[in-house]
Amino acid sequence: MKGVILAGGSGTRLYPTTQVINKHFVPIYDKPMIYYPMSVMMMLKIRDVALVVNPQDKAGFERLFGHGEKLGMHIEYLVQQKPNGLAEGLVLAEDFIGEDSICYMLGDNIFFGHDLPNVLGKAKAEVEGNGGAYVFAYPVKDPERFGIVAFNDRGEVQSIEEKPKEPKSNWAVVGLYFYDKHAVKVAKGVKPSERGEVEITSVNEAYLRGGKLKVGLLGRGFAWFDAGTYDSFIETSEFVATLEKRTGLMISCLEEIAYKNGWISIKELMEIAEELKNTDYGEYLKEVIEDAL
Ligand code: TTP
Repeated sequence: MKGVILAGGSGTRLYPTTQVINKHFVPIYDKPMIYYPMSVMMMLKIRDVALVVNPQDKAGFERLFGHGEKLGMHIEYLVQQKPNGLAEGLVLAEDFIGEDSICYMLGDNIFFGHDLPNVLGKAKAEVEGNGGAYVFAYPVKDPERFGIVAFNDRGEVQSIEEKPKEPKSNWAVVGLYFYDKHAVKVAKGVKPSERGEVEITSVNEAYLRGGKLKVGLLGRGFAWFDAGTYDSFIETSEFVATLEKRTGLMISCLEEIAYKNGWISIKELMEIAEELKNTDYGEYLKEVIEDAL
């Protein structure tokens, strides 16, 4: 399976900041936002990842990640000329995906939960083994703002609607989707919605109509943040800060995950810790190294 993270967009809700800096570089507590979705890919052992980026931001992402060398990964960049919608990344990633299945993720979605690798790993295995699409839903208080999935009495998926005026449930589809290779063809067939965007909900609806959509529920015990506003930046940062201070463990420390995955050696980890010395991030990497020795 390959990974695609959407890291373009216009970020209008974060103006004026995002008039000059892409929101995925802005920190959530102690690291750039993009580290969080990248860590999900790494947790799932997905080593080939493409980032969909705006033309003016490609150089910044390259400075941050290069081509993934320091994480023992292969990272590439797909330029999206305009934020035409969430489904467009699938079309842009056609050659990158090839005949593979895909983990597709929104760059501003942040997940936390101790059972997350297991729950997401099952969805990955299902799509790799049996094809189709696998998405997750999370209960929200303001369903009008999201793609909403409704179930019938037998618990089967009945409908998926984008930003419904009269929501049939409060289960929002989160920004992390697993698709078989057909998703590219499906996305190519999606017509822009009333707001002029090619919606990812239309891709999910097509899988639903074909009887090939599975929906997992992330309920109590999982945290999902969609960090697109100043308030959500603060809330998510506070959440991460509280957990990190309480446990002494860093959330989404990419080099730690790369090392634990066996993708980089202890020597490489030491070099990165040295580069980041005198920072909290570097100090944390030193602790990881000491524990490993
Ligand atoms: P959104 O939050 O829907 O849009 P946005 O980031 O442009 O912000 P705003 O609504 O404040 O203008 O995007 C969800 C994620 O997907 C986010 O990480 C940006 C990314 N994205 C793309 O990469 N390409 C796109 O065409 C769109 C619409 C979003």
